[in-house]
Amino acid sequence: MTMQTPTANPAVAGTSPDVPGAVLPAGLPAGLPDPAALARLASEFFSAPPGRAVAPDVAAGSGAVGGVPSALPAAAPILASVGNPAPAGSPLAGPGGFGTGVPGASLPQGRVPGGNLAPSAPTHILSLGNRAPALAPHAAAQNGLPDNVVTIAPALEPRVGGAALGVRTSGHDARAQGREAAVPPYYFLADTRGQMPDTAPALSVPGGFAGNVADPRSFGLPTEGDLRELLPLHRFTPDGAGATPARQRSLYVLDDARAAAHPREAKREPSFASAHPPFDINAVRRDFPILSERVNGKPLIWFDNAATTHKPQAVIDRLAYFYAHENSNIHRAAHALAGRATDAYEHARETVQRFIGASSPDEIVFVRGTTEAINLIANSWGEQNVGEGDEIVVSHLEHHANIVPWQQLASRKGAKLRVIPVDDSGQVLLDEYRKLLNDRTKIVAVTQVSNALGTVVPVADIVAIAHRAGARALVDGAQSVSHMRVDVQSLDADFFVFSGHKIFGPTGIGVVYGKREVLDDMPPWQGGGNMIADVTFERTVFQPPPNRFEAGTGNIADAVGLAAALEYVMRIGIENIARYEHDLLAYATSLLTPVPGVRPVGTARDKASVLSFVLKGYTTEEVGQALNQEGIAVRAGHHCAQPILRRFGLEATVRPSLAFYNTCEEVDVFIDVIRRLAARR
Ligand code: ALA
Repeated sequence: MTMQTPTANPAVAGTSPDVPGAVLPAGLPAGLPDPAALARLASEFFSAPPGRAVAPDVAAGSGAVGGVPSALPAAAPILASVGNPAPAGSPLAGPGGFGTGVPGASLPQGRVPGGNLAPSAPTHILSLGNRAPALAPHAAAQNGLPDNVVTIAPALEPRVGGAALGVRTSGHDARAQGREAAVPPYYFLADTRGQMPDTAPALSVPGGFAGNVADPRSFGLPTEGDLRELLPLHRFTPDGAGATPARQRSLYVLDDARAAAHPREAKREPSFASAHPPFDINAVRRDFPILSERVNGKPLIWFDNAATTHKPQAVIDRLAYFYAHENSNIHRAAHALAGRATDAYEHARETVQRFIGASSPDEIVFVRGTTEAINLIANSWGEQNVGEGDEIVVSHLEHHANIVPWQQLASRKGAKLRVIPVDDSGQVLLDEYRKLLNDRTKIVAVTQVSNALGTVVPVADIVAIAHRAGARALVDGAQSVSHMRVDVQSLDADFFVFSGHKIFGPTGIGVVYGKREVLDDMPPWQGGGNMIADVTFERTVFQPPPNRFEAGTGNIADAVGLAAALEYVMRIGIENIARYEHDLLAYATSLLTPVPGVRPVGTARDKASVLSFVLKGYTTEEVGQALNQEGIAVRAGHHCAQPILRRFGLEATVRPSLAFYNTCEEVDVFIDVIRRLAARR
């Protein structure tokens, strides 16, 4: 939906005397806040950068006539479409009396109630009985291995620490595997702590520092000291002398004891300087309330960001605001709350469009998440375009969500799934990929970042090569959008999909981006309300995209929450995030790799966020439990990516995965646990 500057239309609305160009809905007494202005206030509030309070006169609604804040920027970026009132009953009116307010301006097809009966795009007509999908075969699991997210049960009150629970398991898992239960699977670190050295033993690592870590320079990486200089952790000092103020330090997981365990940090000389202080990590961490949680009596260290990310207060507040002030179904009622909810939802679509660089909000379809996104494409585009003998190309790195729907489609259609192999570092082999393509290749579907290994895949090349072969290309951005700039137009992918919860937004909301011309030609995959233009018992006329693909009541509030998350990320700056995380990952890699018994899994040159590994002498679950005992959350298991782990001869790895709210201190705590475990075997 394009944003339009409100235009006074005296025939239909009163004009605010104080705000040039601002209009009041007809029928509203002057001096009362009108819903449009309230919506703008809310928008101002939620789009304010962290720490920037909404001006008191704006917050209080004073200093403005009709509730329109005089301090509003000339081009308020958000909810501009709300401020265009039209009288109830006007053909320009949207729900609650809001329409474009611009005589002659066309209503966006498909997203304004009543405005979409005559679809502007080629519309599919359903004849009853056709398109009945064949029953999809179930994908059988290839083994019975559980995929364990580490949990401690029962977590009665995490704030008082797991020790209060007194729960201990029998260690039967270890015994069942033929090992002595000296190391029971739960709480074993605490059990055996007395037998462990208090400090990590000195390791023999060639080219190391005087301490016990390898020299990251030998990997072409910055040193720990370099990174500490780069990161702003130590910048907020009262006297500029390098001490972190106690108040700020308390926000961190690095307590004095832990700091004392890392005396080497004090004497590091930075060997390169960064002119790009990324952001205030203290402020960022304060934005995420859950980071103040304690687990097993320890500060929570959240290294399970590839599974899901935490939510900043801005997202939590936005969801609460939606339910307190805007909650309604959308697109289908002539009352004020329907207007607010519809505007908030469509604003979310525009925010996604801006965030990924799509050319129109109509290219953004809301779904539950990446899995549903790929299922939509396989069931709609795939059903229409893939036939017997056709080929679908995926890479060896794919998450099950980018394998199973294609397998199901192939099985229905008699098509083939072909797989781009990877090298021993976990990077795709482009030359082998080229050899896979032929005139039967219909679509190439690849991840941009591997969730199991962290490999950053050269997706722009893969898309270009697919297009040269006449195939469509889908990029799975579930693990990339929170770590790097994505511009779907320069990527030129036909489809780009991602999940809200992996980018600091709510669960249950995700996105299909599709090029407009591709979406226009796709049939709906689910039928029901919201996606239709007209229904009789004989036939149905569907909406154009995106509504055609959004049957039923969608996840309205969480789409709004996703927009708040994306706005938050945009305020921090995705390039800042990428740079910070790159350095943090390099730091963690340089410390983890030399620990004896550690086998890193996934060593591509280009990586994001993920440090998969196995530790000799331990199951991945044992390592996960040991880390959990220290308050550190990682995923241990197959990460819903069994084929790529099997490529490396494994069924499971331990997978810490970093986000921009993680710190070097947290990495240090993690490394201490791994070193202590390693020292015991
Ligand atoms: N796809 C998520 C992960 O990698 C669940 O953990």
